[in-house]
Amino acid sequence: MKNVIPDDLLNRRKFLFDSARLLVMISSVSALACACKKEGENRLGELAIEHGRIVLDLNESRYQPLNTIGNGLKIEITRQEKPLLVTRVSATQVAAFSSQCTHAGYEILLPEQGVLTCSSGHGGAFSLTGQLLSGPPKSNLPSYPAQLIANRVHIAYPLS
Ligand code: FES
Repeated sequence: MKNVIPDDLLNRRKFLFDSARLLVMISSVSALACACKKEGENRLGELAIEHGRIVLDLNESRYQPLNTIGNGLKIEITRQEKPLLVTRVSATQVAAFSSQCTHAGYEILLPEQGVLTCSSGHGGAFSLTGQLLSGPPKSNLPSYPAQLIANRVHIAYPLS
């Protein structure tokens, strides 16, 4: 004997199945969005790009840390690479460089008392301009030209 399921029941089952699948997809996307944004970080998609340069307006609250000499913030460019690290070096100088340590690739932490330390615990330390101070790394952090003009930071980062 053949079992016959009415069309209406089939449609309801399909609707429930599709709704559940959509819910799973939405929660996965939210989880990804949260995972890629750490505290103190900005994502490239949220940044102003002018003439091919990243521009950070220090009047905006999210960039406030850069109004204080010795502070820094991170910008996530892609999820594959370590964030770009931007620091306030002096009243007139800013710096931008990779936050990937030149020793074994661990992430460099935000500055404390004018020094950037490596998260690895190997002892790598860099200055606010990304210059090697001590530890096992053999070179400075790769840097990108950065200027402070009218309270806006302009960073020449290769965006393509
Ligand atoms: S990875 Fe940074 S000091 Fe080793």
